Amino acid sequence: MYLCLCHALTDRQVRAAIEEGGAGGTAEVYRRLGCTPRCGKCVPFVRAMVKAAHGEKGAGCGCGCTCVETAG
Ligand code: FES
Repeated sequence: MYLCLCHALTDRQVRAAIEEGGAGGTAEVYRRLGCTPRCGKCVPFVRAMVKAAHGEKGAGCGCGCTCVETAG
Protein backbone atom coordinates (compact mmCIF):
# COMPACT_ATOMS: atom_id res chain seq x y z
CA MET A 1 0.00 0.00 0.00
CA TYR A 2 1.26 3.46 -0.85
CA LEU A 3 1.77 5.65 2.19
CA CYS A 4 3.43 8.56 0.45
CA LEU A 5 2.04 9.55 -2.92
CA CYS A 6 4.53 12.37 -3.39
CA HIS A 7 7.47 9.96 -3.37
CA ALA A 8 5.63 6.70 -4.17
CA LEU A 9 6.73 5.11 -0.90
CA THR A 10 5.00 1.96 0.22
CA ASP A 11 4.37 0.68 3.72
CA ARG A 12 6.85 -2.13 2.99
CA GLN A 13 9.60 0.34 2.16
CA VAL A 14 8.91 2.32 5.32
CA ARG A 15 8.80 -0.83 7.43
CA ALA A 16 12.09 -2.02 5.94
CA ALA A 17 13.70 1.34 6.68
CA ILE A 18 12.62 0.98 10.29
CA GLU A 19 13.23 -2.71 10.88
CA GLU A 20 16.13 -3.50 8.56
CA GLY A 21 17.63 -0.06 8.13
CA GLY A 22 17.44 0.78 11.80
CA ALA A 23 15.64 4.10 11.39
CA GLY A 24 14.79 5.30 14.88
CA GLY A 25 12.79 8.38 14.00
CA THR A 26 10.45 9.77 11.39
CA ALA A 27 13.02 12.03 9.75
CA GLU A 28 15.48 9.17 9.60
CA VAL A 29 12.98 7.02 7.73
CA TYR A 30 12.73 9.63 4.99
CA ARG A 31 16.48 10.12 4.96
CA ARG A 32 17.10 6.39 4.54
CA LEU A 33 14.59 6.33 1.70
CA GLY A 34 16.37 9.21 0.02
CA CYS A 35 13.75 11.91 0.35
CA THR A 36 12.13 14.44 2.65
CA PRO A 37 8.42 15.00 3.21
CA ARG A 38 6.87 17.19 0.54
CA CYS A 39 3.18 17.75 1.38
CA GLY A 40 3.45 16.04 4.77
CA LYS A 41 0.25 13.99 4.56
CA CYS A 42 2.17 10.76 5.05
CA VAL A 43 4.11 11.94 8.10
CA PRO A 44 1.53 10.83 10.72
CA PHE A 45 1.49 7.32 9.24
CA VAL A 46 5.26 7.06 9.15
CA ARG A 47 5.44 8.41 12.69
CA ALA A 48 2.89 5.82 13.86
CA MET A 49 4.88 3.03 12.23
CA VAL A 50 8.07 4.20 13.94
CA LYS A 51 6.35 4.36 17.31
CA ALA A 52 4.73 0.96 16.84
CA ALA A 53 8.02 -0.61 15.83
CA HIS A 54 9.80 0.77 18.84
CA GLY A 55 7.07 -0.34 21.19
CA GLU A 56 5.89 2.99 22.51
CA LYS A 57 2.69 2.46 24.45
CA GLY A 58 -0.40 3.87 22.80
CA ALA A 59 1.01 3.91 19.30
CA GLY A 60 -0.36 1.45 16.81
CA CYS A 61 -2.70 -1.41 17.45
CA GLY A 62 0.03 -4.02 17.29
CA CYS A 63 -1.15 -5.70 14.11
CA GLY A 64 1.42 -4.05 11.86
CA CYS A 65 -1.00 -1.58 10.29
CA THR A 66 -0.57 2.18 10.39
CA CYS A 67 -3.48 3.06 12.64
CA VAL A 68 -2.87 5.04 15.79
CA GLU A 69 -5.41 3.35 18.06
CA THR A 70 -4.35 2.76 21.61
CA ALA A 71 -3.37 -0.83 22.20
CA GLY A 72 -5.02 -2.83 24.92
S1 FES B 1 2.32 12.08 0.67
FE1 FES B 1 4.33 11.96 1.51
S2 FES B 1 5.11 13.94 1.25
FE2 FES B 1 3.20 14.02 0.28
